[in-house]
Amino acid sequence: MDRFSWECRTRVRFGKGCVREWLPDFVREYAIPGRKVMIGYGGGSVKRNGSFDDVMAVLQELGYPAEDIIEFSGIMSNPTLSKMREGAALARQNDVGLIIAIGGGSVMDCCKAISVQAGYDGDAWEDFWIKGKPMLHDVLPCGVVVTMPATGSEVNGCAVLTNEETKIKTDRDYAEANPVFALMDPEYTLTMPIRQMKAGTFDILSHIMETYFSFPVEDNPADDVSEGLMIGLIRDFRAALRDPQDIQARSNIMWTASLAENRIIKTGKTKDFEAHNMEHQLSAYTNCNHGEGLAVLHPVYYRHIYKDGLGKFVRFAENVWGLKRSDFGSDEELALAGIDALAGLIKEAGMPASLRELGFGAKEKELLPEIAASCFISGGAFRPMTHEEILEIYNECW
Ligand code: NZQ
Ligand code: ZN
Repeated sequence: MDRFSWECRTRVRFGKGCVREWLPDFVREYAIPGRKVMIGYGGGSVKRNGSFDDVMAVLQELGYPAEDIIEFSGIMSNPTLSKMREGAALARQNDVGLIIAIGGGSVMDCCKAISVQAGYDGDAWEDFWIKGKPMLHDVLPCGVVVTMPATGSEVNGCAVLTNEETKIKTDRDYAEANPVFALMDPEYTLTMPIRQMKAGTFDILSHIMETYFSFPVEDNPADDVSEGLMIGLIRDFRAALRDPQDIQARSNIMWTASLAENRIIKTGKTKDFEAHNMEHQLSAYTNCNHGEGLAVLHPVYYRHIYKDGLGKFVRFAENVWGLKRSDFGSDEELALAGIDALAGLIKEAGMPASLRELGFGAKEKELLPEIAASCFISGGAFRPMTHEEILEIYNECW
């Protein structure tokens, strides 16, 4: 195992009714006295699943007058840098002392980034997202109420933003930017459209695979945990596809999203995340759905690199998909069968399996060389990609 440091400062409360039960204590503890509270949310789904009403009820019970609650709405999927800056300006103008994000990864990311920028006099995008400088200033406290499991943003310090001018979509994980608390009530997730449920669940699987398929390849606890999480997630995904209202499966998926991204399975791992790099740039240019983009890319990407991490792909086929070495003529065949099983799950779920099925047309096809050239190259992969090979992968995904 490599050297690592591990921390996760986020305090999690999970289960039905957790917002009404725990938010009062968290607001008392984290809201800076005498300052206002900002509520960040997206296009309005929070008003249909009870989460917004629960948060407002708590703030009213705590005695916050309406003028001390600043709403920041309209945070879009794949949040933009300008939306983040708008929120940070609003937070500063109103002397906000606590941000509560209610929603999925996009809302959580945007609000976490606002909490970084609002307390910073310089340009946070340039200094942290681009240059990766140490974060030494006081980040505004930000807590989250999760309504969609996928990104694990509730338990890490990542905030993925799209700079619309430069067409760069990127993030960095700062321990200082972790939410101070995360409230996770699985009941809120039941209103998610099935399409989002599928995309979010695949994103979780992707986070685990991107970590698992990296060095070291020798036995280690992080990969052991990853295999257990993948087996459970595939089981729960199938249960949720059969019955989307299966609260047990939906609860398991919600907590698996956090376990995949609270940095535990990353301990001692180099971490690949090239599929994410390729998807982020597709999204920066086309605004495509994150989890669906990953579903298109993963099998094709893995057919490119499986020989560079053959032992781990064999282990994936055997331990995650239950395939037997004796049924295959070679390790390569077994490894490919594991990747086929992954592609089979995507098909079974009815998710897009090509860029065309993702909605790409002639205009997007023309952009592929430029998009490929703009991708970050992962330093943690079994084999670093070249921009030429990324273009090949995009074309094979067509
Ligand atoms: O805008 P609203 O009305 O809230 O609707 C959202 C949105 O349309 C809807 N939704 C969420 N919860 C719902 C619901 N609809 C009904 N009922 C509910 N309970 O779902 C739609 C998608 O939400 P979004 O937050 O965009 O999805 P997701 O959680 O997948 O987040 C995607 C963003 O996170 C980034 C992605 O790149 C993308 O920008 N990522 C963040 C990461 C992180 N912070 O660690 C890591 C990831 O790899 C990822 O890159
Ligand atoms: Zn992701």
